[in-house]
Amino acid sequence: MTAVSSSSNQWNRDHPYASRLLLKRPLTTVGAVKQVMHMELDLGDSGLRYQPGDTVALRIENDPGLVQEILQLCGLAGDHELELALQRDHEITQVHPGFFRNYAAFCHNPDLQQLVNDSKQLRTYLEHKQIVDVLRDFPASPSRDQLRSCLRRLQERQYSIASSQCQTPASVALTVGMLQFDSNGHVRHGAGSGFLSGRVTASTTLLMHIVDNPNFRLPADPATPVIMIGPGTGIAPFRAFLQERQCRGASGRNWLFAGNRRRNDDFLYGDELLAWQASGVLTRLDVAFSRDQPDTIHVQHLLLQQAPAVHAWLQEGAHIYVCGDARHMAEDVQKTLLAILEQQGGLAAEPARQYLTGLRQQHRYQRDVY
Ligand SMILES: Cc1cc2nc3c(=O)[nH]c(=O)nc-3n(C[C@H](O)[C@H](O)[C@H](O)COP(=O)(O)OP(=O)(O)OC[C@H]3O[C@@H](n4cnc5c(N)ncnc54)[C@H](O)[C@@H]3O)c2cc1C
Ligand SMILES: NC(=O)c1ccc[n+]([C@@H]2O[C@H](COP(=O)([O-])OP(=O)(O)OC[C@H]3O[C@@H](n4cnc5c(N)ncnc54)[C@H](OP(=O)(O)O)[C@@H]3O)[C@@H](O)[C@H]2O)c1
Repeated sequence: MTAVSSSSNQWNRDHPYASRLLLKRPLTTVGAVKQVMHMELDLGDSGLRYQPGDTVALRIENDPGLVQEILQLCGLAGDHELELALQRDHEITQVHPGFFRNYAAFCHNPDLQQLVNDSKQLRTYLEHKQIVDVLRDFPASPSRDQLRSCLRRLQERQYSIASSQCQTPASVALTVGMLQFDSNGHVRHGAGSGFLSGRVTASTTLLMHIVDNPNFRLPADPATPVIMIGPGTGIAPFRAFLQERQCRGASGRNWLFAGNRRRNDDFLYGDELLAWQASGVLTRLDVAFSRDQPDTIHVQHLLLQQAPAVHAWLQEGAHIYVCGDARHMAEDVQKTLLAILEQQGGLAAEPARQYLTGLRQQHRYQRDVY
């Protein structure tokens, strides 16, 4: 493997590379619960280098429709400078407590003030809200400066790289899940995923750079077996791992636990995974489709079903990787790994935890969760 770290790249947050979209295709049917896109960005003659496990950071722009909605609600429609600032400079989707406190300070609404003073109630209220929903619920007429003072700076969004540069030297692939939810009858989209899945076209300039991720790396020895656990968009870096191992002719065995909601709607990269299984690149493939049967099946249920083999792979030196949702999945998978160590290794709870900590310290248990 070429040991080039992204830190050697000349492109960074302050000096991003102006890329463009080469390809965007849906990985899900229109009926899927959550839309997911495969995207490929051109690296041209940038000289950008990345390794499997790295992420791409992208500058995004907010939805012009949402910007107009906010301007209207605040009575600031027609302020073109503010319009541009809301589109390019400020977070206008995520509601954070700081926004709430600042907004309440000039809003003079007793109900809003009561919410600010009750952190538990505030958390519940904010669960399915974006900033625009707060503006609807608690109308006010802030000045341009008051509004801007409540808003944070727009952050880049990161996406795991879903390709190996060994196979595609001049492009980088991403797997983008569209965040979409309903708030009081209004369809709301995530800022970054909405931008990428919806508004980006072949002519859009995409300002990007690579973020080095040294804590999520394939084993240095290509003969080492790997177990990869990545439901949903967590599959992304494992597509890169598998491309890399295939391209380098790595002899190590590869076991993937993937999953999503329904095989017919959202089996992300299903054709590629099955082809890798058929050709032997994937030694084992276990896919959990959570909603294809009356009982929910998640990746950790399949892990537990395969406990003796998972334990044997670990005894044989396998590295284990987890990618995807941090809130629930990563913890549930970790609990299952501990249960496997207890059940198969005859360990009590504390030694099992120490064993897993040991694997972490040896970089044999790596997580990339968000
Ligand atoms: C290292 C790293 C790697 C990542 N890799 C990937 C990847 O490969 N693919 C991928 O798709 N994403 C990935 N992400 C996540 C990605 O960066 C964005 O966070 C994601 O696309 C959402 O951003 P957004 O701008 O669309 O949403 P935002 O506008 O930022 O909104 C997100 C906020 O919306 C709220 N929210 C989320 N879901 C709901 C809901 N159902 N109902 C109500 N509110 C909700 C939450 O408060 C959340 O903070 C990664 C993140 C990190 C840090
Ligand atoms: N409400 C929210 O704020 C919210 C909700 C979901 C995701 N997200 C965000 O979406 C991103 C992850 O999206 P994603 O596409 O990778 O995943 P995802 O869309 O949330 O789910 C992918 C698969 O994982 C399953 N799953 C759900 N809970 C699980 C658990 N505890 N353990 C194992 N598998 C589980 C899902 O099954 P089922 O859904 O059928 O159970 C589905 O089959 C993250 O950024 C996350 O923060 C946010």
